[in-house]
Amino acid sequence: QTSEQAAARLLSWYDRNRRDLPWRAKPGEVADPYRVWLSEIMLQQTTVPAAAPYFRAFTERWPTVHALAAAPLDDLLVAWAGLGYYARARNLHACARTVVDRHGGRFPDEETALLALPGIGAYTAAAITAIAFGRKATVVDGNVERVIARMFAVTDPLPAVKPTLRRLAATRTPDQRPGDYAQAMMDLGATVCTPRKPKCMLCPWSDGCAARASGIAETLPRKLAK
Ligand code: ADE
Repeated sequence: QTSEQAAARLLSWYDRNRRDLPWRAKPGEVADPYRVWLSEIMLQQTTVPAAAPYFRAFTERWPTVHALAAAPLDDLLVAWAGLGYYARARNLHACARTVVDRHGGRFPDEETALLALPGIGAYTAAAITAIAFGRKATVVDGNVERVIARMFAVTDPLPAVKPTLRRLAATRTPDQRPGDYAQAMMDLGATVCTPRKPKCMLCPWSDGCAARASGIAETLPRKLAK
């Protein structure tokens, strides 16, 4: 199975199973970089169900990056209460102000320019590039690491194996529909290729999955004992 065939299968699975999440553009809608950025920051250390009500509250109160940049930091910190990791909220405000003051209120569409913004690291820059701007980027979070480790039966432990997993993920990333592909990988990891009891029967990649063939899917990825 080629990478193109695998990507096509995954995208077709996503079209049938895509989760309706508040930050996702509906099929055919244009993505809003502000909403993509805000959701990815919230989702960094927070689960989807926990982040969703905060995302709705924030976007109702501050519908644009201009509105968020103009808000007093204290209002933002109060609205953030419960999400934890307050450095994220401070960076959120600093990033909104930078986008307004230095980028005319528009998020840059280059990964390197995004990386220079407060609170945006490699994962978030790649996610915004792919999801908000439809440009190819390799988006790797814990879910994606698990899917890739299993597909290729990578038995070396995290964290040392991270660069290998990233390289393998990059070789599979298609030119078509980068944003949908990135979110399909996240959904696959969150709902099918789960840490415990993966639902391989439902997986669009089960045919080519090396870990499943060897019966070791549930044991991957391995982690160095702390
Ligand atoms: N986790 C991080 N980003 C996500 C997204 N865009 N959709 C679903 N889960 C996510």
